[in-house]
Amino acid sequence: MKIGRRSFIKTSSAAALTPIALMGSGNTWASIKGHSMPSPMATSKAFDYSAARKWAPRADATDLTTVFPELPGVIPQEELLAIAERHMTEWMDKTKISKAMQERGKKHMPFGIIGTYQKDWETPHLLFSKNSMGNKVTDVDGIEYLDFNLGDTPDMYGHGGVNPAVKSCADLLLKDGLSTMMGNEDSLVVAELLAEKFGLSHWMHALSASDANRYVLAIARHHTGRPNIAIPNWTYHGTIDETQKFAPKPGVISRFHDLGIYHGEVDQGTKIFSWNNLESLEEVLADRSVACIMMEPVMSNFGWAWPKPGWHEGVKALCEKYGTLLCYDETHTISQGPNGMVGHLGIQGDFWTCGKCISSGIPGAVYGMTEEIAHKLYHDQHEVGFFTGAGLGFLGNALCGNTMSIHALRITLEQVLTEEVFADINRNVSEIKSAMEQVNRKYKAPFRIETMGNRICYHFIPEQAFDPLHGLIQVGFGGLFELSHSYAWNHNMLIMPYFNMIMITPQHTKKDTQAWITVWDDIVRIAMGQ
Ligand SMILES: Cc1ncc(COP(=O)(O)O)c(C=O)c1O
Repeated sequence: MKIGRRSFIKTSSAAALTPIALMGSGNTWASIKGHSMPSPMATSKAFDYSAARKWAPRADATDLTTVFPELPGVIPQEELLAIAERHMTEWMDKTKISKAMQERGKKHMPFGIIGTYQKDWETPHLLFSKNSMGNKVTDVDGIEYLDFNLGDTPDMYGHGGVNPAVKSCADLLLKDGLSTMMGNEDSLVVAELLAEKFGLSHWMHALSASDANRYVLAIARHHTGRPNIAIPNWTYHGTIDETQKFAPKPGVISRFHDLGIYHGEVDQGTKIFSWNNLESLEEVLADRSVACIMMEPVMSNFGWAWPKPGWHEGVKALCEKYGTLLCYDETHTISQGPNGMVGHLGIQGDFWTCGKCISSGIPGAVYGMTEEIAHKLYHDQHEVGFFTGAGLGFLGNALCGNTMSIHALRITLEQVLTEEVFADINRNVSEIKSAMEQVNRKYKAPFRIETMGNRICYHFIPEQAFDPLHGLIQVGFGGLFELSHSYAWNHNMLIMPYFNMIMITPQHTKKDTQAWITVWDDIVRIAMGQ
């Protein structure tokens, strides 16, 4: 999840009232607006944001500083931000060694930190960790956190040796090498398991979800001979130019950022439709220039937006009508359970991708495809000569399929993505959900708790969201988001930095979840002025 989820807290209160940053501080909405241009490629259908406007009447998709929800009983926005700032300052004061380390790091790393995600906390200074194990992380200042963030998904089955895939990889590495440029027994087993669990017959390996998605789009273009891809508005699929775009208003297409790093015009290669709106999708597909739709089964990256009944069936029917392929990206929604959200909803695309946690946080991602697509790939390599050119890496790179990633994938599929493991997690999750709902009732708070397998989200509006702007409003950017995050972080709970999500590992105990409920009780009490 990327844009919009990038909210941050500034320590100056003037800045705190305009808290939405897109792709990091410094890139404000204004700079994105500057990059937008009218496009014949974007849908001209109006987006239905009426549900969203109920809670944020001033909501304007071109200016996300307006998204703060207006809720009965909640204390004023300025007060929420002042309390948030107090907790943020306290937390920052307790993490001075981290601060010094980031300063030292700035000499040799652009952000003072080595990974891009590691800078995405958007806090006044960043944290450095000393170690992590199970569901706990200790930072260099010696503070131990209960970890509900888990690296923003990769380690959602637990850090370190308590995770069977990590443990088995560590053992394997002592006796086996990493990169033979050959397949092995594990690679056959993972392809069989992936086919069994997620329904598609043929599979390949990548090192990140972004790459898996990139390769899918390349294959879809090759397969169909079409230039464009289509995405729902407000979606995130990784570091791919064509998917890092959105439509701030009908007929206008913009990039998430204006870094000037892509060579094509903003309207090249991408068409945008509205989630849950088949009319807008048909408009986008009708000229038969779209090779592939890329979307999540449930939108998870700008706050959650659920599919309405009939949406997925309608998408499939339109794909068949216009000869467009369909890819479900389950990098987040895999949390639903052992067969992912596609298994849960009983839907099937032509491609399926997943990264982050699919190998228990060991770098790795997969993409599956239908037999027909796989056969054409094989045919076009061997008989037509496409995709040859040894070493040119059309669909991957040297580390794809490495021994360790594939082994981690196998163990995750065999020992973690199982009904038994998820039965325990689900029990724990439903207890947490009811305890959080009880807190909401206690303070008459108009908030909602939702779950997606081992993900739990707290939303600051009472209704379920079916469009992503509504989804964004429920995150409560501009006060409620800031309060809940800085309060939780300052009380030694790592929750996801972009929005209101916590993840439950098999290692979270009753004591851990009770500690979270106590913090949630404080957050709700404060927000409701009690
Ligand atoms: C749905 C989805 N797809 C792809 C990605 C990209 O993952 P990665 O950064 O591992 O490439 C993300 C990351 O948040 C995601 O949420």
